[in-house]
Amino acid sequence: MMRKNNVNRYQKKKNKKGLTIVLAIIAIIATSLVVWIGMNNWNPQVSYDRAIKALDSGQKLIKKEPKKQDDKTTTGGEVEQPVEQKPEKPIIEPNVDPGGYIEGQTLPAEPTYVDGFLVANKKYPLPSTFKPGESKEAREAFNKMAAAAKLEGFSLDAFSTYRSYDRQVELYERYVSRDGEEAADTYSARPGYSEHQTGLAFDIGEVGYSQHYASASFGDTEAGKWISKNAHKYGFIMRYPKGKEHITGYMHESWHYRYVGEAAATVIYENDSTLEEYLGI
Ligand code: DAL
Ligand code: ZN
Repeated sequence: MMRKNNVNRYQKKKNKKGLTIVLAIIAIIATSLVVWIGMNNWNPQVSYDRAIKALDSGQKLIKKEPKKQDDKTTTGGEVEQPVEQKPEKPIIEPNVDPGGYIEGQTLPAEPTYVDGFLVANKKYPLPSTFKPGESKEAREAFNKMAAAAKLEGFSLDAFSTYRSYDRQVELYERYVSRDGEEAADTYSARPGYSEHQTGLAFDIGEVGYSQHYASASFGDTEAGKWISKNAHKYGFIMRYPKGKEHITGYMHESWHYRYVGEAAATVIYENDSTLEEYLGI
């Protein structure tokens, strides 16, 4: 009996010791875990996100380098965010008035040539003193086109070609007093801005059908349709096509053709394009 008691006491002591050791091990493991989490700033969701992102982009999971002092590409959080780069100088778009002209623009001292092409539009005006007269090259090309049209039964007439700055003043003022500035700006160039002042623009109609002169209806006539399909072969482009008003700045004019030479005219025609698009201006 005495011996049994001694054995029990010995057994209890042994169990207590074992429990103490287990508790001590658990405490050590728990403490190590807390310290490790603290040192690695571990967040299960972020780690998961990073792993998925890396897998998605086919990258190997690599340990993130600690953030350097001068590293401005991170915001300090776990997820890297590109810092928005502010342009050094703000991009200043010129103010455009309701007519499509650059506010406060004055006429230049010299005309603008882009890739050798003389340009006159709402962005690029001409000097008021620029008076080249009608282009001989454009007139010769028109004569060839008119000869070809004649064979098809159309007698073409170039009813308005070169116009001086002063003539454009008269026309534009007349249109403004008749229709108001806003409407006039959709179909008539302000003085200094008309392509007619370059001597390269030809308003074309058919002899005997003056009711279609400078009228949308010309585009529906057989002569108007023939020119629209053949003018490029003679170096002319329909300058203000339908659907390109936002590029040219003017309503569609089925009668207004511009001489640019056969090569450019063919590219512009085949691409359903405009002079602005061709020149990238
Ligand atoms: N009608 C064209 C746009 C001009 O006035 O030059
Ligand atoms: Zn015209």
